[in-house]
Amino acid sequence: MTSPYFASKRAEMAAGQPISTLMAQALENADLLSLAAGFVDEATLPTDAVRRACAAMMADDRAARTALQYGWTPGNPKLRAMLLDRFLREQAIPVPNAPSVEQVVITAGSNQLLHLVAESILDPGDVVLCAAPTYFVFLGILANVGARGHGIPTDDQGLIPEALDEHLRQLDSTGELKRVKAIYLVPYFDNPQGTTTPPERVSRIVEIAKRWSLNHTIHVIADEAYSELRYSGPHVASARCYDADGETVIVAGTFSKSFSPGLRVGWGILPVNLIEPVCNQKGNMDFGSPNFAQAIMTHILEQGQFDEQIDVLRAGYAPKLDAMLRAADEFLGPINGTSWTHPSGGLYIWARMPDGLDTGPEGPLFQRAIQEGMLYVPGQYCFPGEGEPVQSNTMRLSFGVQTSERIGRGINALARAIKQAQASV
Ligand SMILES: Cc1ncc(COP(=O)(O)O)c(C=O)c1O
Repeated sequence: MTSPYFASKRAEMAAGQPISTLMAQALENADLLSLAAGFVDEATLPTDAVRRACAAMMADDRAARTALQYGWTPGNPKLRAMLLDRFLREQAIPVPNAPSVEQVVITAGSNQLLHLVAESILDPGDVVLCAAPTYFVFLGILANVGARGHGIPTDDQGLIPEALDEHLRQLDSTGELKRVKAIYLVPYFDNPQGTTTPPERVSRIVEIAKRWSLNHTIHVIADEAYSELRYSGPHVASARCYDADGETVIVAGTFSKSFSPGLRVGWGILPVNLIEPVCNQKGNMDFGSPNFAQAIMTHILEQGQFDEQIDVLRAGYAPKLDAMLRAADEFLGPINGTSWTHPSGGLYIWARMPDGLDTGPEGPLFQRAIQEGMLYVPGQYCFPGEGEPVQSNTMRLSFGVQTSERIGRGINALARAIKQAQASV
């Protein structure tokens, strides 16, 4: 007789997240036209630049030995300084109370930063206010620490400040304000909707966080994963530009979308008070993210190859976004009740199906779409458990991975599946 296996409470809380299943489906069904996974375009991955960076590093014996050794818990000092310098230069307006290099922490992808922040500021039962819909992996991170996401209504510019303020007022009236520890934003070309939050709105959200920070700080986590993937319009200033004392906003950044997700290099720019808790967590977890990957990214930035790669990506993704929007016009447009967002960057559009058509894995559309040869992310995964209700007729469509021609075929397959699903009910 085998003895029962007791997983920890934390392991139980981590179960049931859709990310691994969706990624596995995309990897296992190579023929499936996946418009689901947020993978980056294979064709534009910077193989030459990384090959040259590795060769240069390995040719220099001292550099090679340093890169192959353990590194620093908060990350490679040179890379941290370069990232900070870049961040400060990128903003259209001055960054108040400009962060120091000590406030920059390198992580294994920005996902690790989000985890470390969650570990550092959240206790079980705490609340994070998120856009509804929001980045679904972040909801998994909250579940992992026993925290709760509350969905705040959005429009075509992201989370609505007035609705956020009202939600905080309600939580205050029910005595729950003390549980609210953060507001999570993806201000640039949001995952999943592709929306960008204009500076006036970002600044208002930071102001609201500060105003409701009555007995403790309510942080704004500004997840800037897609900030470089802009295909039109000017750069919008970071949320950190509206944080006068620098105590509210946590910036999360990553090279995953702008260079290579395989290198797993992300970072955070933290309020001073969070440096120690985050680095303590990180010390216990891995005492430093992969040093070799950081050395490669340092070399790439020094040599100017990062900027070159961003130009390559913009030139590669902009036509794919156009292809997706054109295909949506052509194939989804004639179906009554469909609509979708029109982003100016990022990797996703967010589509709304006719009222009552459930896009979830158990609904009439999901399996039909797979049979027709395409995969999407059901919108239901992107809604926090509390607050704004799930909109079950929605989906996220990614244009990052497929060619323009395959994007068109994928959307056509989706349209066929929608018509079949409508005919079946
Ligand atoms: C909004 C957002 N934040 C963070 C991440 C995590 O990226 P990484 O851990 O690869 O830096 C992603 C990945 O898709 C994302 O979409």
